[in-house]
Amino acid sequence: MKFFIDTANLDNIKEAQDLGILDGVTTNPSLMAKEGITGDANVIAHYKAICDIVDDNVSAEVIATDYKNIIKEGEALAALNPKIVVKVPMIKDGIKAIKYFSGKGIRTNCTLIFSAGQALLAAKAGATYVSPFLGRLDDISTDGLTLIEDIRLIFDNYGYPTQILAASIRGPLHIVACAKLGADVITAPLAAITALLKHPLTDSGLATFLADHAKASGK
Ligand code: E4P
Repeated sequence: MKFFIDTANLDNIKEAQDLGILDGVTTNPSLMAKEGITGDANVIAHYKAICDIVDDNVSAEVIATDYKNIIKEGEALAALNPKIVVKVPMIKDGIKAIKYFSGKGIRTNCTLIFSAGQALLAAKAGATYVSPFLGRLDDISTDGLTLIEDIRLIFDNYGYPTQILAASIRGPLHIVACAKLGADVITAPLAAITALLKHPLTDSGLATFLADHAKASGK
C-alpha cells in the first residue's frame, strides 16, 4: 500500500519523507490556504518546493470547473514537474477532462468521491487515482469504509487499473482498515501516520530490555 501525506506543510512533508515510507503528497486549496499560501505564483512555487522534497506523486488541484480551463490549468500544473498528478473534481467537466488527460498520458486524481458510482465513472474516464473521502462520510453518519469496500469490488470485477486513494483519513485505525480492505493508497495527516508507530507494550518492553541490558553490563 502506498502512503501519501495529506498536507501542504513542508516540515510535515520533510518529516514523513525522512521516515523513508512516503510515496506522495496530496494537497487541496484548503490545505494551501491553511499554510498561508495564496496567489497563483506562490501556489506554483509551493508545488515546486514539494516536488523537490518527495520522489513522486504530488497531487495539485485545479481551481477551474469548466472543461476548457480545467485542461488549461491541468496542463500547466503537469508541466511544472513530472511528479505532478493533476487533481480534478468529480463533476461532469472534470470527467471529460480526466478522459482528455488520460489520452495525453497526464496522471489524474479524481477528488471529492462520495459514491461508488462516481468512482466507476472516474475509472471509465481513465483516472489514475480516485479519492473517496472517508472521514467526511463518517462525519455525516455514513460508513466511509463501506465505500472503499464497494469500489474495490467494482474495480476488481472489471480489472480497472485506477487506484483507490483513501482520503479524508482521521486516524491510524482508518489506515489499518483501508489496508485490510485493499485500498491501493492512503493519504493522511502526519499525526495519523506516526500514530501507527505507537503501542504501550512496545514502549514498556523496550524500557525493560534496556534496563536489563544495563544491569547485565554492570552499568
Ligand atoms: C485529499 O486529497 C483530500 O483533499 C483530503 O483528504 C480531505 O480531507 P479532509 O476531509 O480532512 O479535509
